[in-house]
Amino acid sequence: MREHVLLIGGGGREHAIARELAGSDVKLSACAGNKNPGIARLVSEFETLETTDPDTVADYAEAVDATIAVVGPEAPLDAGVSDALEDVGVYAFGPKQADAKIETDKAFQRRFMAENDVPGCPDFETFDDMDAACAFIDEYDGDLAIKPAGLTGGKGVKVIGDQVTPEEGKEYIQESEYERIVLEERLIGEEFTVQAFVANGGLETAPAVQDHKRAYEGDEGPNTGGMGSYSDATVDLPFMTEQDYDDAVEIIEATVDALEDYRGILYGQFMLTAEGPKVIEFNARFGDPEAMNTLPVLETDFLDVLVAARDGEQPPNLEFAEQATVCKYAVPEGYPTNPTAGAKVQVDEESVARAVGATKNSSGDEPRESAGDALLYYASVDEREDGIYTTTSRSFALVGVADSITEAEEIAEDALAVAGEEGLHMRHDIGKPELVQQRIDHVEELRGE
Ligand code: AMP
Ligand code: GLY
Repeated sequence: MREHVLLIGGGGREHAIARELAGSDVKLSACAGNKNPGIARLVSEFETLETTDPDTVADYAEAVDATIAVVGPEAPLDAGVSDALEDVGVYAFGPKQADAKIETDKAFQRRFMAENDVPGCPDFETFDDMDAACAFIDEYDGDLAIKPAGLTGGKGVKVIGDQVTPEEGKEYIQESEYERIVLEERLIGEEFTVQAFVANGGLETAPAVQDHKRAYEGDEGPNTGGMGSYSDATVDLPFMTEQDYDDAVEIIEATVDALEDYRGILYGQFMLTAEGPKVIEFNARFGDPEAMNTLPVLETDFLDVLVAARDGEQPPNLEFAEQATVCKYAVPEGYPTNPTAGAKVQVDEESVARAVGATKNSSGDEPRESAGDALLYYASVDEREDGIYTTTSRSFALVGVADSITEAEEIAEDALAVAGEEGLHMRHDIGKPELVQQRIDHVEELRGE
């Protein structure tokens, strides 16, 4: 039987999943709260619906006769969409609500690590009483990270000694009205992500990626969902050793061992500290933007992973092209604190592919010979009669794939130049040699090299 995959979610990550599956022998449908024009063009059917309503999603999956579902974002996982799909006999690649707590409840996540002796857990305490949390900040010897236990789109964490003073941290706790928070040891180092494809007790990991959470260049400004990311042609990153990567994989393996029925993507966010990798958080899905680094270099058919998972098997060995990737998000001006929507998006997939090398040409420089195509992924945009417009969330991402990070970065930049900057903001520094070198220097300094 030809599989019919239902993709749930309408962001850049889901556009990357859709493009990956569109090349396979599969019927593809999608549903999301917003109509992502990139996904809509790749699927047989696209339905706009409330993806955090499990019954609505399950009804749609039944109506289109889906055989497998892929859940992209965390909110539907948190709402129990995988459970509802299973109830109507549709296999969901994405954990059930109880297992998604590894992401959706940071207090659970830390306790889970401690109880199961998963390595790489920082010191932490959880609090339901905010006065007690503030007292803990006063007493603690060192800086703490303040984390709301529930989902905040990556924007709820405040790190004392980095973004806020202890006084500001306490004010944040008292004013925010969170029901539960985690206070944990501030980790110092360089962040990286390792994503694992998990099914039936087995797992396969993808090359490491580094995301950039801060809104502005030089890692300044508020935290965002992620402004862009890069990966290297090897499994590790320039500031890491392969041993660091292997240590991170071991942490993921210990986590999967302790989570009995986990299926889907398990995303580990690590801090490479002087003592090696420590866990910042787990996510129960692909990263956004990290999916856009990983899926373009995945040479194994993603459909094979889905079918194996559904059929009770462990994931097949995954092959990744030995290529570097750089992903840059264009976001609306003012994002994330005060975003202005309504700018017209000036790029499409064809103009982006043509752009590479051409911008250098028109400025009189020599075009690069090795330039490959850039990839465009739409995120939160609004398609109207006369074009595509920005909303208040991340708009679209451009990805370069090449032999080195430097070349991939140039490809992404050429494509961004076509998009123009009106009404948009982007971090040009992501993937540039200077910033990558800073990461290398930082880790060398921490390790006393
Ligand atoms: P999260 O939502 O857990 O990914 O946290 C958002 C960001 O806060 C992370 O990407 C880190 O930059 C920072 N962060 C979280 N936990 C810690 C920690 N224990 N120490 C230092 N920074 C942290
Ligand atoms: N890139 C961070 C995330 O997806 O949570």
